[in-house]
Amino acid sequence: MSKNINSLEQYKIEYAKSIENPEAFWEKKAEQFSWHKKWDKVLSWDFTKPELSWFEAGKLNITENCLDRHLKNKGDQTAIKWIANNPNEQSRCFSYKELHVEVCRFSNVLKGNGAKKGDRICLYMPMVPELAIAVLACARIGAIHSVVFAGFSAKSLSDRINDADCTILITADGGFRGEKITPLKDISDEAMDSTPSIKKCIVLERTKSKITMKSERDVWWHKEMQKANSNFSAEIMDSEDPLFILYTSGSTGKPKGIQHTTAGYMVYTEYSFRNVFQYSEGDIYWCTADIGWITGHSYIVYGPLLAGATTIMFEGVPTYPDAGRFWQIIEENKVSIFYTAPTAIRALEAKGMEFVNPYDLSSLKVLGTVGEPINEDAWHWYDKEIGKGNCPIVDTWWQTETGGIMISNLAGVTPSKPSFATLPLAGIQPCLVDEKGKEIEGNNVEGRLCIKFPWPSMARTIYGNHKRFKATYFSNFENNYFTGDGALRDENGMYRITGRVDDVIIVSGHNLGTAEIESAMDEHYNVCETAIVGYAHPIKGNGVYAFVICHSKPNNEQALRKEINALVQKNVGAIAKADKIQFVSGLPKTRSGKIMRRILRKIAAGESDDLGDISTLLDPSVVNEIKISAQ
Ligand code: WT7
Repeated sequence: MSKNINSLEQYKIEYAKSIENPEAFWEKKAEQFSWHKKWDKVLSWDFTKPELSWFEAGKLNITENCLDRHLKNKGDQTAIKWIANNPNEQSRCFSYKELHVEVCRFSNVLKGNGAKKGDRICLYMPMVPELAIAVLACARIGAIHSVVFAGFSAKSLSDRINDADCTILITADGGFRGEKITPLKDISDEAMDSTPSIKKCIVLERTKSKITMKSERDVWWHKEMQKANSNFSAEIMDSEDPLFILYTSGSTGKPKGIQHTTAGYMVYTEYSFRNVFQYSEGDIYWCTADIGWITGHSYIVYGPLLAGATTIMFEGVPTYPDAGRFWQIIEENKVSIFYTAPTAIRALEAKGMEFVNPYDLSSLKVLGTVGEPINEDAWHWYDKEIGKGNCPIVDTWWQTETGGIMISNLAGVTPSKPSFATLPLAGIQPCLVDEKGKEIEGNNVEGRLCIKFPWPSMARTIYGNHKRFKATYFSNFENNYFTGDGALRDENGMYRITGRVDDVIIVSGHNLGTAEIESAMDEHYNVCETAIVGYAHPIKGNGVYAFVICHSKPNNEQALRKEINALVQKNVGAIAKADKIQFVSGLPKTRSGKIMRRILRKIAAGESDDLGDISTLLDPSVVNEIKISAQ
C-alpha cells in the first residue's frame, strides 16, 4: 500500500500536485487496488448536469479489496472485533479469513433468497457483526444496500423501503441498546404492512424476543447460513455501479436517498482513513458511530477494511452500564485510534472525571471527532482528560453526500486548532462563496462552503430523483457543489464550520430536516401549523424548538406536547422529538407567506431583544406575542 503523508511539507507538496493534475493524483491511489480491468479514463465531469464518473470502465468488486486482497498476508489478523452491549457478554473476533467466509456464505444466502445484481436490499439491524457481514455480502453480489438506522420508526422504515423499492429486508428479532431492547422485527412487521416490494425478510436471532415469522416471507438468518456454501466468487462490477443508498434529511419532508458508487468510494475511503488517522500496521481502531449513518459505512466498515486494519464495533451506548464504558473498552482493547462525536464527548464530560479516572488510556495515539462543530470547551476536555495532552485530535468535516472526510487535520502531521476542521485533504478543493455565488478569495473571510472540483467519493445522485440532486447541491452556486454549511477561513487558510445555513438541524450529530418534523406534528388533529428551529443545547449541540399553532386552544398543554412528540417519534424517530414546544397564535411570515425562521431562531435562542428588521412581516404584532410567551 502506498505510504501516508507524514509531514506538513509533504502535505503541501501532495496538495499542490492534486490541484495541478487531479487525474494523475487519483490514478496513483487507484492503482494499488485489485481490479479485474483497469479504467479507460480517470475522470469525466460536468457539474451543470451534474454528471460524474471516476475510473470509467474499470471492473472490480469492492469486497475483494476489503477481504480477498488481505487473505495472503493478514488472513489471521482480526478484521472486526465486536463488543456487546452487556459487558458480561463475550466479545467476538473475526479474522480476515473468517470474515471472508461469513461474507461468502451470506452472499449465497442472499442469492438463494432471490437477490440479484442491482436489487436494493434494506438492512434494519442492531450493531452486531452480522450487520457488517450483510453490508459486505450485498456488495459482493452486486446488490445495493440501504441501511436504515435501527432507531427509526416503522413509518420511516417503510418510506425508505418504498422509495428504493427494496426486495429484501434484513432485520433481527431485537436489538440491545443500554437497558432497552428495540423490537426490530415487530417494527419491521408494521413497516412491511405497506411495502409491497419486499419479497423476503431475513431475521437474525439476537435478543431471543418473542416474534412472529410469516411463512414464505420470513426466514431465519442462522437456518439459512447452516445450508450455505462458503465459496462465492464476487460479482464483477463496473466502477460506476451503485454501491449503496443512504437516506439523509433534507429541507423538504422527504428524505433523500444519497447514492454512492463503487470505485471512487473505495479509493477515497481508504485514502482518507489512512491519512487522517495516520493509521499504521498494528493499530486498534475504534469508531463509535452506528453503521446506520455514513460514518459507520465509511469508517467502521469500508475504509478500515480496505486498509487492512482492525476495526472495533460496539453494540451499546456510552453510558451503559455507566459513563465509563467507552474508557473501559479503550483500556481493555488497547485502542490506539478513537473516533467519536462531540455530543458524546459533552455528555461524558458532564458525568465527571470519576468515570474516566479508573481507566488506563495510555494506548491512545489519535482522537477524532465528527458530526457537528466541536466547541472549544469540549475540545480541551477531550485533549486534556482523554488524550492526556499527547494525542492529536482530528476534527473531521464531511457529509453523507461527500462519502468521506473532506476537511480535517492529519493526525500529528498538519496543525490542529480547537473548533476548526482546518485544512482540506489533498485532492479536495473547497471554497467560500457569497450569496450571489461569487467566490470569496483571500483569508479572514466568511461565506457559504462549496467544493469546486469533483472528488472520487462524491454522491452521484439522489435515488430516483436526479432533478432534486441537481436542485439541492448544484443549482445554488454555479459550477460548485453546495454543502449547505457556512464556514469561515482564518488568517492561515484554516476552515471553521459555523453550521447549517439551510433548514437542517444537527441534533446530537444527527441530521434532521425541519420539514420532516413539522409534517409529523401537523398530523395531530389539533395542530394547524408548525415551525421548527434549532437552538443551542449544552449536550446535544442543537435542541429542537417547535412553535405550534392549534386549531382550538388546548386545555392541557402538557398533555398536548406529549401527543405531538409521540407523533414525531412514530413518524420520524425518538431522536427528532422536540425539546421545547411553544403554543402560539400565529407565526412571523413575509408577505409572500414564507416563515421567517431567522426571527424564530433568535427567539428560541433567548435573543429576542435583537430581532433586526421585522417591518417586512405580514403581521409584526405576532412577534411580540411569541416573545412574551417564549420558553
Ligand atoms: C453535516 C453532515 C459526516 C458524518 C456525520 C454527519 C455537520 C459534520 C462536522 C465537523 C462541523 C460538521 C455539517 C455537515 N458536520 N462534521 N467536523 N464540524 N460540522 O453526516 O448527517 O450527512 O451531516 O454535519 O453541518 O453538513 P451528515
